[in-house]
Amino acid sequence: MTGLFISFEGIDGAGKSTHISALVEAFEAQGRRVTLTREPGGTPLAEKLRTLVLNDAMEPLCEALLMFAARRDHLQQVIEPALAQGDVVLCDRFTDATFAYQGHGRGFDLAVLSTLERWVQDTGQGIRQPDLTLWFDLPPAVAAARLANARTPDRFESESQAFFERVAGGYAARMKADPQRFARIPADHPPERVGQAVRAALVDRSWLSPSP
Ligand code: TYD
Repeated sequence: MTGLFISFEGIDGAGKSTHISALVEAFEAQGRRVTLTREPGGTPLAEKLRTLVLNDAMEPLCEALLMFAARRDHLQQVIEPALAQGDVVLCDRFTDATFAYQGHGRGFDLAVLSTLERWVQDTGQGIRQPDLTLWFDLPPAVAAARLANARTPDRFESESQAFFERVAGGYAARMKADPQRFARIPADHPPERVGQAVRAALVDRSWLSPSP
């Protein structure tokens, strides 16, 4: 079986977690082996970098480099080996988040991010990208209301609504540049309806069979 690499994106509060868990079950029910992972993180080293980058103050270049350092380790230790053995890799965030948050959110140079993307995701046979990116698109005002009830916010969750407007614009720009790779999931709906849209995106690609 060929591996399948699916990433999940959206601004903080967009509600991707429950849908990722549902997809783990859906793929396993079809006999696929699933590697569930996240960024920044997914390896012991990358999880340490996650703790730093979510909590310690730092300038945007440092932030972007740590995201890509974590990604390099994650790709080499987890994602590439899992794809090579035919797993479905479900990754909570990937490089689109760096373009959206560090690029559009913080205003860091997008051309530098593109260079880092090519270096870090070079497999020797091309540049690794997800086969599909599910973008949970939620208006930032709705996300802010959801996050207001959440636990102690980290460095990103405590950003302004204006920051998340820019991040959302960043995701839209990434989708526009590579529309085939993306499925936009309107996330301002009850969870059941969002879940159906997620499933439909996979059924459309014949990666999941229609629900019985
Ligand atoms: P998130 O995925 O929302 O996890 P949780 O649900 O546990 O809060 O948190 C990761 C945060 O890291 C999120 O605010 C976005 C940010 N981030 C970046 O800024 N750049 C990146 O490249 C990645 C992968 C994440």
